[in-house]
Amino acid sequence: MDKRRRLVIASGNAGKLREYRELLADTGFELVAFDSEVEEVGETYAENARLKAETACSRSDLPALGDDSGVEVEALGGYPGLRSARLGPTQEERTAELLKQLEGKPRPWSARFVCVIALAVPEHPTQFFEGECRGEIVPEWRGRAGFGYDPIFLVPGTGKTFGEMPPEEKQLYSHRARAVQTLLESGALDRLSAPA
Ligand code: IMP
Repeated sequence: MDKRRRLVIASGNAGKLREYRELLADTGFELVAFDSEVEEVGETYAENARLKAETACSRSDLPALGDDSGVEVEALGGYPGLRSARLGPTQEERTAELLKQLEGKPRPWSARFVCVIALAVPEHPTQFFEGECRGEIVPEWRGRAGFGYDPIFLVPGTGKTFGEMPPEEKQLYSHRARAVQTLLESGALDRLSAPA
């Protein structure tokens, strides 16, 4: 097996994995899912993305991509941000908890999604790529597509939440798609697959 063509996606989040499979489909890499199961003890998205990527890389001896992401709501001072996955035991409860915290606050509830990708390659310094998507939290669940907070995140100019968009439409705007675009434009993946 040619090790140079495999790329580990260090995540156990089914929604993220599905998106990486779509976003990296044309790169020619065989994508291998691996949940690093690290505790997210970092104080930045980049630190957590690094922990996930470097753990997966050292365990597999393959290049690995780690993703840390979250939603930041202006009226809550950027909360939940790094803690987006920890507002409750299920996503439904996390979404309900976020809306509860926003109750009574004047709208629009401006927000942004942030995604930081860390690319860890054996014997190389880890590289980082970031993307953001600005939008608005809406008080009612709209649509069933995507994952996480997608049904309450309205994308300006589209009249739709991410929950109402098919995957290819979400990719036109999403923080993750933008981070992947920066990664692709950097040439870092081409260098991995170039003949030694
Ligand atoms: P973590 O990166 O594993 O810490 O988790 C990030 C959390 O942020 C996810 O569990 C989701 O709740 C939320 N999140 C990140 N990206 C997205 C997205 O594209 N759509 C909706 N929610 C997201």
